[in-house]
Amino acid sequence: MENKKAKAKYKINEIIAKRWSPRSFDATKEVSKEDLLSICEAARWAPSSVNEQPWNYIIWDKFTDKENYNKAFSCLNEWNQKWAKNAPILIGVFAYNLFSQNNNNNRWALYDTGAATISMLLQATELGLVSHQMGGYDTNKLLKEFEITDDYTSISVIALGYQAESDILEEPFRERESAERIRKDLRENFYFSTWENPLE
Ligand SMILES: Cc1cc2nc3c(=O)[nH]c(=O)nc-3n(C[C@H](O)[C@H](O)[C@H](O)COP(=O)(O)O)c2cc1C
Repeated sequence: MENKKAKAKYKINEIIAKRWSPRSFDATKEVSKEDLLSICEAARWAPSSVNEQPWNYIIWDKFTDKENYNKAFSCLNEWNQKWAKNAPILIGVFAYNLFSQNNNNNRWALYDTGAATISMLLQATELGLVSHQMGGYDTNKLLKEFEITDDYTSISVIALGYQAESDILEEPFRERESAERIRKDLRENFYFSTWENPLE
């Protein structure tokens, strides 16, 4: 099984290093309700502007509700469908665009929902699950299929489950599964005191 732990230059938390986005999922392994509740609980404790908690998630489980899973799956683009078909769980990520106390636009809604989502995915890693976020899907179709109003922004769909050997994947996914994980150098986007003055 591919283990693409981050080759971190400085010391980082083990779970942060371990999380990565594989495409090979074990289609035979169900994710327990307890684990699903646990990852949602982790997201629930994320910080947010005025504690609005603008995030909304829908869990689609292929094992327990194939009809709604298939509806969500049909919104993924062809590229993502080719590998995500083995993931037993899809998760729709949505942000409520307004502050509930005054209906003003909440410009931190996406930021806060992203924060909640990474908490969710790190908790999933801790539980031995793997996840892969997707932006490649039809947002309008997804909102329509699940009758969600335009007060919400559809941000991503996450494939979740247990990892499988990469040889179940077709190319080019199989080759990419073992490709090195790369990041920009720290000095490229982390500054000290002044804009573009590298911290490192
Ligand atoms: C918002 C978002 C959208 C993404 N969309 C896709 C996608 O549509 N298809 C895909 O295969 N990967 C997608 N990815 C996965 C990224 O390519 C991946 O996170 C990135 O290459 C870093 O790899 P790592 O997560 O293994 O560290 C997306 C990731 C994010 C955060």
